[in-house]
Amino acid sequence: MSTKSPKTYSIKNYGCQMNVYDGERMAELFDAQGMTAADDKNDADIVVLNTCHIREKAAEKVYSEIGRLGKTSRAEGGPMIAVAGCVAQAEGSEISRRAPTVDIVVGPQAYHNLPQMIADVTQGKRAVDLDLPGLDKFSQLPPKRKTGASAFLTVQEGCDKFCTYCVVPYTRGAEVSRSWSALLDEAKALVDSGAKEITLLGQNVNAWSGEDDKGRMQGLDGLIRALDRIEGVRRIRYMTSHPNDMTDGLIAAHGDVEKLMPFLHLPVQAGSDRILKAMNRSHSRDSYLRILDRVRTVRPDVALSGDFIVGFPGESDADFEDTMSLVRAVGYAQAFSFKYSPRPGTPAADMADQIPTSVMDDRLQQLQAQLMADQTAFNTQTEGKICEVLLERPGKLPGQLIGKSPWLQSVHVLAPGLTIGDIVTVTMSESGPLSLKGDPIMRAAA
Ligand code: SAH
Ligand code: SF4
Ligand code: F3S
Repeated sequence: MSTKSPKTYSIKNYGCQMNVYDGERMAELFDAQGMTAADDKNDADIVVLNTCHIREKAAEKVYSEIGRLGKTSRAEGGPMIAVAGCVAQAEGSEISRRAPTVDIVVGPQAYHNLPQMIADVTQGKRAVDLDLPGLDKFSQLPPKRKTGASAFLTVQEGCDKFCTYCVVPYTRGAEVSRSWSALLDEAKALVDSGAKEITLLGQNVNAWSGEDDKGRMQGLDGLIRALDRIEGVRRIRYMTSHPNDMTDGLIAAHGDVEKLMPFLHLPVQAGSDRILKAMNRSHSRDSYLRILDRVRTVRPDVALSGDFIVGFPGESDADFEDTMSLVRAVGYAQAFSFKYSPRPGTPAADMADQIPTSVMDDRLQQLQAQLMADQTAFNTQTEGKICEVLLERPGKLPGQLIGKSPWLQSVHVLAPGLTIGDIVTVTMSESGPLSLKGDPIMRAAA
């Protein structure tokens, strides 16, 4: 059976920012093929589910979405269905067995092959590509051009750390860095297309390394300094970083690169050394805290963020209390926290002493209450400060725009005459747990 070639597409992203970036690259790939984004995403000729495998819930969402989409067969005008991303990589052709309406299964390192795979499907075949060839795909995709005021730029992919709970090393493959010249070219193109802020992305972004244009080895700090020299780049951020790759140079950059925003997302996962060891995190509670101290020494106003897992196998009440005391000691400006989810194929899934859900629920509730209180306190202490806000999207009220402070807080600005992409100086006020108000400072006419 052959079917019509799709003309319109819809891409649904799950999971982390790297998937958002990959989704943007797929969209530009489809555009280059003469396809267009569907006005109504329920009416697209091809639907790409760009999936996440990190926790069971994330993976299960995909199957319910496939079920919903598959209700209308293609003969009756239903869409071609492609499963991309980390569930595709982890479950492979198992997906087509469990969900026969899926036409394409494509892993995160193989999506540059989508046009050929779509052509195969129109010939009545089912298409599966789960190669993990490193970074080949970026050189085969059309150059990235589309952007908002704040742009993502994937600099590194994959992970060699093998934390015992985590699927990423299996779904994204080994750590590979994109080249210096490809990254600077892409950054310049993004600025020419209107980006003011660039967020460097990687599963372990601070493991990035590469040769610069003079053949010298550089780390992420070198790349940040090169971006700092690009006129038009106004703000630089990076995530997600691993404590073991926080080099002296990168810590120093927080003190002297003005465009590097005072924000650091540095996941710790747990506060107990015993649990950190069982997680194979290869840093201790103290070595983590020492890094934060050093960053705060060079950049006293830095906003800190982290990720936490509660209920890792064997976590006792005392271990959990170590996490709570670490959180209280740091005072995070924001954070993500999760119940441990056993993932097939990871060592922790087979460990003894899995923690009952009710215990995990209690611990998560306690932890989130503390994190929310700290976030609210951080926002409160920003009140009265004068800072710049990069306006990124429209707000709900007429004339209102929403942007980000240097500390990555959402700031609502009532700013007639200003547009998205403007950087406006405001006085911060009316803080809440999730956002603040920014009152623009009127400059006297010269
Ligand atoms: N590379 C980053 C994080 C990648 S995954 C790092 O090393 O920190 C994002 C977050 O998901 C992790 O920081 C962790 O907190 C959480 N996570 C990963 N695997 C998980 C699992 N099996 N159960 C619950 N949370 C998990
Ligand atoms: Fe997963 Fe650990 Fe790698 Fe982060 S460092 S992606 S948590 S294995
Ligand atoms: Fe999820 Fe894959 Fe990102 S598992 S968190 S989409 S790297």
